[in-house]
Amino acid sequence: MNRLGVATACLVGLFFFATPVSAQQTSRCADCHFAQNNVPAPDHLFDWDRSPHARNNVGCEKCHGGNSTVFEAALAHRGILNSGNAKSPVNRANLPATCGGCHVGPFVAFQDTRHFELLKTGDSHGPTCSTCHDAVAGNLLSPAALEKQCSHCHGAKEVAPRAERARNARAMYESLNAVREQLKLANAMIKKVDDKTRRASLLDEYEQASVPMTRAINAGHKFVYAELDEHLKIAQVRVEKLMSRIANRGN
Ligand code: HEC
Ligand code: HEC
Ligand code: HEC
Ligand code: HEC
Ligand code: HEC
Repeated sequence: MNRLGVATACLVGLFFFATPVSAQQTSRCADCHFAQNNVPAPDHLFDWDRSPHARNNVGCEKCHGGNSTVFEAALAHRGILNSGNAKSPVNRANLPATCGGCHVGPFVAFQDTRHFELLKTGDSHGPTCSTCHDAVAGNLLSPAALEKQCSHCHGAKEVAPRAERARNARAMYESLNAVREQLKLANAMIKKVDDKTRRASLLDEYEQASVPMTRAINAGHKFVYAELDEHLKIAQVRVEKLMSRIANRGN
């Protein structure tokens, strides 16, 4: 095989390896974009390939539109607008609605914010979904990385200086991670419980502790953290009670 052949085989191999069979059948967009070496935004393509979106069959068309069943570029691209166009679903102002179609919890909370107001009024100084999660990668920022992200705009010399907002965000998510770790530990311990009835009952309690956790993560998208804190405290009380029940084999 010549070098080009090897490179193509690698690319194709990488793609088919990482993509579930059903995605190959339902979306041709990525097939073609991976097969070309001069398509725009190659990094974006690889970010998609490694993302929870690719793993869960969220194809290109789910964010960009277009016709994903055809392999002819002009037909496939019909209706697709560059992200610079105000009507594009991937324009930064429209991302909350586009991403929010699937991620309802974060979207509902986000709609309640000054950040969303800025986007709606065409003010480009606020963040949108991709500011913290990347356009396609679905990254989750660590508390330290989040503090940095807030500081890009709320740091001392930036557009909306309020340094305590960034510090506060970091502190909130450090607490959230601590409770999340406890939940993980509880889950691992429950799996080792032999008695079926007791295991099912503990698992039920685990689920009930997880609900306020999800609510806290969603409420974080208000960026004012009173509500996150409220849900997190409920999750913490529940997980502590659960841990002591696990430790106490009698019940
Ligand atoms: C047969 C090959 C092929 C298919 C199928 C295809 N594309 Fe493309 N796409 C290209 C090429 C080549 C370019 C760069 C040249 C151009 O803009 O037409 C491109 C460009 C793009 C752009 C950039 C447009 C811009 O305004 O900058 C987007 C977004 C895009 N494609 C998304 C998609 C989506 C979503 C699908 C499926 C619904 C898809 N493509 C299907 C080959 C393809
Ligand atoms: C989760 C949503 C999402 C998915 C899935 C997605 N994209 Fe994108 N894409 C975006 C966003 C948002 C932008 C805007 C650029 C930015 O903010 O960096 C973008 C930008 C682009 C661009 C640059 C042109 C432009 O309009 O800015 C191309 C080309 C592109 N995407 C192709 C693809 C292809 C091909 C796939 C599938 C392999 C894909 N995208 C999957 C959200 C997505
Ligand atoms: C068509 C539905 C769909 C769209 C549109 C979509 N996503 Fe996703 N997203 C998913 C699925 C499915 C997953 C993987 C399962 C999960 O973690 O919820 C996921 C995962 C994620 C994750 C990781 C969650 C975790 O717990 O690890 C983030 C962050 C994310 N998406 C953000 C975005 C952003 C930002 C956009 C818009 C640019 C977007 N998504 C658009 C369906 C979608
Ligand atoms: C200023 C930063 C920021 C912005 C803007 C932002 N998020 Fe998030 N998002 C976060 C943080 C922080 C988390 C929690 C990370 C963790 O769980 O450790 C998160 C979590 C998520 C998750 C995972 C939810 C789960 O249950 O695990 C999804 C999905 C998501 N965001 C989608 C969105 C969408 C959609 C938008 C736009 C409407 C958005 N985010 C805007 C910071 C942001
Ligand atoms: C891309 C820039 C940008 C990023 C990133 C950003 N913000 Fe903002 N934020 C703004 C702007 C601009 C305003 C409006 C001016 C103001 O109120 O100070 C604002 C307003 C706010 C407000 C005021 C809300 C109200 O109701 O008055 C809070 C609170 C806030 N941001 C918290 C945060 C936190 C916490 C983070 C990080 C998780 C963050 N922001 C990330 C730009 C940003």
